[in-house]
Amino acid sequence: MPVVGVLTAGGDCPGLNAAIRAVVVRVVAERDGRVVGILNGWEGLMEGTVRPLGRDDVRGILARGGTILGTSRKDPYLHGEGLASVLPTLEAEGIDRLVVIGGDGSLRTAARLADEGVSVVGIPKTIDNDIAGTDYSFGFDTAIQVVSDAIDRLTTTAEAHHRIIVLEVMGRTTGWIAVYGGIAGGAEAILVPEEPYDLADLAGRLRRRHEAGHTYSIVVVAEGVPDPSGAETLAGVDAYGFARLGGVATVIGPALERLTGYETRVTILGHLQRGGTPTAFDRVLATRMGLAAAEACLAGASGVMVGVRGSTLTTTDLWEGCAEPRLVPADLLAQARWFFA
Ligand code: F6P
Repeated sequence: MPVVGVLTAGGDCPGLNAAIRAVVVRVVAERDGRVVGILNGWEGLMEGTVRPLGRDDVRGILARGGTILGTSRKDPYLHGEGLASVLPTLEAEGIDRLVVIGGDGSLRTAARLADEGVSVVGIPKTIDNDIAGTDYSFGFDTAIQVVSDAIDRLTTTAEAHHRIIVLEVMGRTTGWIAVYGGIAGGAEAILVPEEPYDLADLAGRLRRRHEAGHTYSIVVVAEGVPDPSGAETLAGVDAYGFARLGGVATVIGPALERLTGYETRVTILGHLQRGGTPTAFDRVLATRMGLAAAEACLAGASGVMVGVRGSTLTTTDLWEGCAEPRLVPADLLAQARWFFA
């Protein structure tokens, strides 16, 4: 009888509950299939904190943000003894296969466990959309909708006051959120880690735009962009010792004000991008990936992650799927540039 453990690890994102629901619906449809929900990511597997998940436990959660299982960035290899720290729970609960819903870090941990003999299937999730093994991860669509809405709002106040507004968005080392959100919101400039920028040149372009009568501008900045001196801007470290990015807009905003002479304000969108109800697209993607991962795991697959290429569901070797962050391609950046100041 298949006993599937499911966990959500790393930063949360909209769509996690939709994916959990799909895993449960598919597994319990199997003869004697059972799902064990593991609480707070890998931490629950290390500490034995679990709860059974049946069909009734996942009713009404499709549209809810966050994760009913909780999450954390605790990692069995970094904060424990690796395989030895998760085996007792796997054995005690009779879990014979795992579905790991995580970003690149959690998927790498899943790959290590698979190499050590644990049966694991991964599901990519992150608002950053930077996982190599999939064209889209759920959470991303919701995040860019939030960014697009924010730009709509910032535009009217920027226009009223004839200001520049610098909007910082998440994305870690990639600019997917900045580029998609910026295109959707009609930003005058988008700065991403994938491409160097010249602040004096940007200031010149904004000045010419303002002199031509468009006396406001929205500049979207990805959190992973280096400051003008080339340094990464860190907001500290989290409870597990991981570096937190954030705050580069507070350097870029005042610098642009000095260079242009236009009053400038800074907005850091932060966790608004991660909270709340998933868009329809993210609900469907999470549901499809959850079903596909459950199928793969019931069929005995291990060491793989599900993903999507175009609109087709795929499975990819876990190591390959989370090898390098997937960067924004040059052709997409070139398209975004047509609309810059
Ligand atoms: O990876 C998702 C993400 O939201 C990044 O875009 C961001 O840098 C990070 O997580 C924020 O993490 P935390 O919730 O620990 O502040």
